[in-house]
Amino acid sequence: MKKKLQTLSCNSPEDIRKFFDASAQDYKEQHGDAQRLFNYRLKVIHESLQFQKTEVLLDVGCGTGQHLFALAPYIKRGIGIDFSSKMIEIARSIQKREMAAVNLTFQIDQAQLLQTIPKESVEVVLCVGSFEHMPQKEQVLHQIQRVLKNSGRLLLLTPNGNFLWYRFIAPFFRIDIRHLSSDEFITAEWLESLSQVSGFAGIKIGFWTFIPKGDMPWFWVIIVTGLDWLGKIFLPRYLRSGLVFRADKII
Ligand SMILES: C[S@@+](CC[C@H](N)C(=O)[O-])C[C@H]1O[C@@H](n2cnc3c(N)ncnc32)[C@H](O)[C@@H]1O
Repeated sequence: MKKKLQTLSCNSPEDIRKFFDASAQDYKEQHGDAQRLFNYRLKVIHESLQFQKTEVLLDVGCGTGQHLFALAPYIKRGIGIDFSSKMIEIARSIQKREMAAVNLTFQIDQAQLLQTIPKESVEVVLCVGSFEHMPQKEQVLHQIQRVLKNSGRLLLLTPNGNFLWYRFIAPFFRIDIRHLSSDEFITAEWLESLSQVSGFAGIKIGFWTFIPKGDMPWFWVIIVTGLDWLGKIFLPRYLRSGLVFRADKII
């Protein structure tokens, strides 16, 4: 029997950090076949960002580093930052245990500060399933802009805040859709306007399938999957479940 998602009340960045520290130990895919979903996300990432072997990649909110481990062969160097020390500990222990990916480093840092990352030092920034958990989104984008080199690329994969499920259906039926009360599902329009203020150009909005199956009863999984499928034919802004946001830093 699936446990019903109940939004946890969260009043400070410290509460958010504690939540992720607590979930780090058995952090795993909760929304379906882990390998299939992971391969799908990697495909979306590779289609959106053509990596060069000379590039430095920063993963913001890297968790246990799963995407960086898979991307390590395609880049010169990878840096994963996360404010959960437990997540970083696990990422480091995976790296040590498997002697995997010597070109990666994992650091404790806050996305809204990026204190460990020098100005204009990375070519690519990736943020998968993390931006929605960061309340200071403007500062996060500002910091990403600061650390990117000129012409550097940003890719965000996040739930689509315009998706009918998040905007109308779940609120109408009073179904909890957020793990934390501070979670925020953003829209393409919001990201576009904020990114322009933060100094990004070449903005490309795309969509991906992100259906949080682990968070909803099966009846709704079928409805939501159907909507996302329809979104591949029309009205993707409202019917696709996930948002793929790509932008370039142009000074
Ligand atoms: C759902 S997990 C996703 C992890 C990873 N990107 C993945 O896809 O496996 C979200 C991650 O974002 C991190 N995070 C949330 N807010 C953050 C912040 N303000 N600064 C740094 N990391 C943050 C959390 O600690 C957590 O590891």
